[in-house]
Amino acid sequence: VLLITLRRFCNKAPRKLRVAELLSGTGLEANVQGWVRSVRSQKANLFVDVNDGSCLQSLQIVASPELNDPLLTFGSAVEVRGILKKSLHPKQAVELEAEHIHVVGECNPLDFPFKIKERHTLEYIRQFPHLRGRTNAFGSLLRIRGEATWAVHSYFKENGFAHIHTPIITSNDCEGAGELFQIEPSYPQNSQDENFFSVPAYLTVSGQLHLEVMTGSFSRVYTFGPTFRAENSQSRRHLAEFYMVEAEVAFTRSIEDLTEVMEDMFKRTTEHVLDRCARDVDLFHTHYADVRLPHKRAYDLLIISAAPAPPLTSACSASQWGCDLKTEHEKYLVKHCGTRPVFVTDYPYRLKPFYTRDNRDYPQHTAAAVDLLVPGVGELCGGSLREERLDLLRARLEEVGLEDTYSWYLDLRRFGSVPHGGFGMGFERYLQCILGVDNIKDVIPFPRFSHSCLL
Ligand code: 4AD
Repeated sequence: VLLITLRRFCNKAPRKLRVAELLSGTGLEANVQGWVRSVRSQKANLFVDVNDGSCLQSLQIVASPELNDPLLTFGSAVEVRGILKKSLHPKQAVELEAEHIHVVGECNPLDFPFKIKERHTLEYIRQFPHLRGRTNAFGSLLRIRGEATWAVHSYFKENGFAHIHTPIITSNDCEGAGELFQIEPSYPQNSQDENFFSVPAYLTVSGQLHLEVMTGSFSRVYTFGPTFRAENSQSRRHLAEFYMVEAEVAFTRSIEDLTEVMEDMFKRTTEHVLDRCARDVDLFHTHYADVRLPHKRAYDLLIISAAPAPPLTSACSASQWGCDLKTEHEKYLVKHCGTRPVFVTDYPYRLKPFYTRDNRDYPQHTAAAVDLLVPGVGELCGGSLREERLDLLRARLEEVGLEDTYSWYLDLRRFGSVPHGGFGMGFERYLQCILGVDNIKDVIPFPRFSHSCLL
């Protein structure tokens, strides 16, 4: 009985077609709902462009002037019923001959922050986070973001990775950088209930350690969710809340095993976005891009070593071996390598978090770590082999006074430990990279950064 009920429930009525689907059909009776992008009233005809967010293009409505309404203005919400006809206009295949137009929600164009036919800058539209989805630019961005999200999930599914929902509330500081948001209940605490979780709890900075738990039984795992950093930064590539794609692979002994996955994921996701969102991407490349990646498949990813070698020595002329790379070094390296994505490996061991594998047998004391740097953005991915040797991991944890906190993490090395590694990719930085967008606040629906938490 339950199965029959479930089947009936799933057998829903056919859904209403959206503008993106209507643009390729004719002869259909259609009911369109959306927001007015332009109104032109001529003697014989009224022309209204309606957009419902399903694609960049609007559907042109042709109506008799009697259907005009003073409330039918730029930005108003409408419902239009009519018949789809072949259009004589060269830029569109079909138009809707309206029988009825109903203004559902009016919009005073004088007060509305966006003006008809005007191309506002990303800086300008950023001031209106509650309305910016109505602009072409932000509409395109959100469609691209959604499609890229889908492509990331399908990449991992096709390649045998299990999707793990890692927690948002955690008691660990995976990166050890102290950039944590501590969480507490909002109600006043009484003495019996001093601490809700009995231990300090934080918003996660990374799902890596939880993925490492699961890679010990699923071999290949990934997660894709929000992560939080209390970085007091107003920079163009940092947010307090950002989305991270993280993967962890067991039975991996070389950095190349990881860079292969990073590169493959980057290319497959980008190809998918370029195929599915060609018009939306084009809008960005034409009007907003500062740095533009060469088109599809044209970008080969390079691997260079950060251990003192000619490219890095010149990149870091103001810096020393043993110092971390700054944004300007990363940008220099990318430019030096032909303005294309580049992997940098073998960082100084001391710069990397406690979980990173120690390359102690190498002449320079390096970590088995890798960053992917990309044009316009700098660091896009950070990854490493993880220290799988119990004695070395314990020694490092003891050194930083975290042996007790991470006793469960040491257990993973005690019971069936395998060489493994993984990486994390900042999803907003990925979007910045493929779209050439200068400011990270323009590629996330509701940006959170220091001194700003609007809406
Ligand atoms: O290099 P990170 O800190 O690496 C980790 O968190 C690892 N535990 C990931 C892993 O191996 N599973 O961060 C990974 C990426 C960076 O390369 C960058 O793209 C992005 O996350 N990122 C940020 N993006 C926006 N705003 C911030 N404040 C960011 N911090 C890091």
